[in-house]
Amino acid sequence: MSVVLLERPAANVALVKINRPEKRNALNAEVRTELARVFGELASSDVRAVVLTGDERAFAAGADLGEQADRDVVGAMQTPASRPVWDFPRPVIAAVNGYALGGGCELAMQCDFIIASDTARFAQPEVNLGIVPGGGGTQQLPRLVGRSNALYLLLTGTRIDAERAHQLGLVAEVVAEDATPRALELAGQIAALPPLTTRAIKAAVRGGLDAPLPVGLDIERRNYETMFGTKDLREGITAFFEKRAASFTGE
Ligand code: COA
Repeated sequence: MSVVLLERPAANVALVKINRPEKRNALNAEVRTELARVFGELASSDVRAVVLTGDERAFAAGADLGEQADRDVVGAMQTPASRPVWDFPRPVIAAVNGYALGGGCELAMQCDFIIASDTARFAQPEVNLGIVPGGGGTQQLPRLVGRSNALYLLLTGTRIDAERAHQLGLVAEVVAEDATPRALELAGQIAALPPLTTRAIKAAVRGGLDAPLPVGLDIERRNYETMFGTKDLREGITAFFEKRAASFTGE
């Protein structure tokens, strides 16, 4: 069976599952290659929202340490940085049950937001192994939780539960038991919205976040203007005045 499973549980929604349970979904080269392949496939599909998850014990327990143990500097340099989840242009929700450690936490942070089970545990424990996080942890974490909280987590490797992660702003919502049904519910909600608009909102936030404010406001303005060329915007406003549910086609 593949180490990454793709399901289509509802119209325009995809569920991507990391499937290496015997290794707590540790991210080896095969998982990374499959994730890139699946997200590449989804990019040219009708999918409007994606949920990324693992199993009940682990979202992902980090980079595969067996592979890290054999790596030298040249090997590290020859391993290309591939970010298929971060680069995916449509909304992606992480549904985290169990461990999201190291590269697993980094993978969850590449999603647009995280829904966590109360069983979820987050950490960047790389420092304990002499490793500097290499999947975006030193950059994503401070942007989500602030410099002090990020350095606390990165320099101590402290494991935090879902509630603490929620307080820090790493997690958007905590649910009892399985995070996947709630993430799928939200994905369904997003998939029913105008897809060009959800994509443009994501692009505006991403483009503006690290730019000076005037540049970010310009990025937003371009996205705002562009939507007036879409049928879906007309449909949304018309449906409002006709007091009916809008039906969006993605045009
Ligand atoms: N890389 C490779 N294998 C891993 C792994 C990783 N990151 N995380 C877990 N595994 C493997 C274990 O070696 C074990 O394999 P085995 O059955 O062949 O011995 C299997 O997954 C189950 O792990 P185990 O430790 O027995 O499960 P657990 O439920 O008691 O603990 C964790 C789970 C995630 C807390 C623990 O495995 C762990 O701390 N993993 C490493 C986390 C880490 O440091 N990640 C950052 C990497 S940079």
